[in-house]
Amino acid sequence: MTATNSKPVLDGPDTTVEIRETFGIDAEGEVPAFSEPSEHVPRIDAGYRFHPATTMAILAGFAEDRRVLVQGRHGTGKSSHIEQVAARLNWPCIRINLDSHISRIDLIGKDAIVLRDGKQVTEYREGLLPWCYQRPVALVLDEYDAGRPDVMFVVQRVLEAEGRLTILDQNKVLMPHPFFRLFATANTVGLGDMSGLYHGTQQLNQAQLDRWNIISRLDYLHEDEEAEVVLSKAPWMGEGQNVEILLQMVRMASQTRIGFAAGDVSTVMSPRTVISWAQNYRIFRNLEYAFEVAFLNRCDEAEWPILAEYYQRCFGRNLEEARTPLWQRVSVEAGENET
Ligand SMILES: Nc1ncnc2c1ncn2[C@@H]1O[C@H](COP(=O)(O)OP(=O)(O)OP(=O)(O)O)[C@@H](O)[C@H]1O
Ligand SMILES: [Mg+2]
Repeated sequence: MTATNSKPVLDGPDTTVEIRETFGIDAEGEVPAFSEPSEHVPRIDAGYRFHPATTMAILAGFAEDRRVLVQGRHGTGKSSHIEQVAARLNWPCIRINLDSHISRIDLIGKDAIVLRDGKQVTEYREGLLPWCYQRPVALVLDEYDAGRPDVMFVVQRVLEAEGRLTILDQNKVLMPHPFFRLFATANTVGLGDMSGLYHGTQQLNQAQLDRWNIISRLDYLHEDEEAEVVLSKAPWMGEGQNVEILLQMVRMASQTRIGFAAGDVSTVMSPRTVISWAQNYRIFRNLEYAFEVAFLNRCDEAEWPILAEYYQRCFGRNLEEARTPLWQRVSVEAGENET
């Protein structure tokens, strides 16, 4: 076998940023960064709120080449946290969703038949993994606990910090770029899913889990913090009466999480759902209809009475009554509206 170390396309970090200033976290220190953004650098979300412990874990991943796995329930901000840290460091970042559709071949690459000088030749097409591995790129394996076993074995090889990636089909051994970084996000901690919320997740091989240097848990935010996150995505919720409505919406979300923990409801509202609710509210101008289409229609009908009770508690209104037909049909004749 030949050891190859392809020339990186991009250089490494050429500057540093202050943790305190850049991420709004009370911590001393600097982390390496790129002075200019490039093609794969995610766009900055200016209103993003960095969770201190998770951000510090992710920063250790970038600065100290640690393999970081971020675990947490859906919509807690796992993927976006890594992306937003990368955005502030101008670090190219590529996300791969390891759901059941991705195969070993997609990751590693394959031989393809191409035409060269009028002749058919077989040529190796590099997969995403070797491509990232040889560049200063942060690779994020999303839905890590949903990866197929054949895919997980490929991933295992790159998890070793000093690891080399052997492309057997090509007789090649690749060395990692010194600024290649690896992250993953998962809904479970690899022990399988007891809640029934995360269909398609697998138990993770313990030897594989062992290879992550840092495992960070991200939970739902406190109500006031969550309200600020929603506000950053739905600024109209900060106007007039909407402020109070927003706090009630966030309380409703947290009720579903408490109810879920107690086994009373089987669907929880994520911050993403609250954001959709706020967006739907702007579109339909009716809070209950917006709630119905953002969340209620996704829930088991048998649980609607419980959810209505939570709603009553948060808003002091009967959800059922408020949901009674909103819009009436009108007949439009010669420019006149009749109801
Ligand atoms: N701290 C935050 N500040 C601002 N927006 C946030 C924050 N956390 C989450 N969001 C927003 O909430 C939404 C969901 O976040 P994200 O996709 O990162 O969640 P996730 O944990 O990866 O979810 P899943 O488990 O479903 O993959 C996104 O629109 C994201 O921008
Ligand atoms: Mg995600």
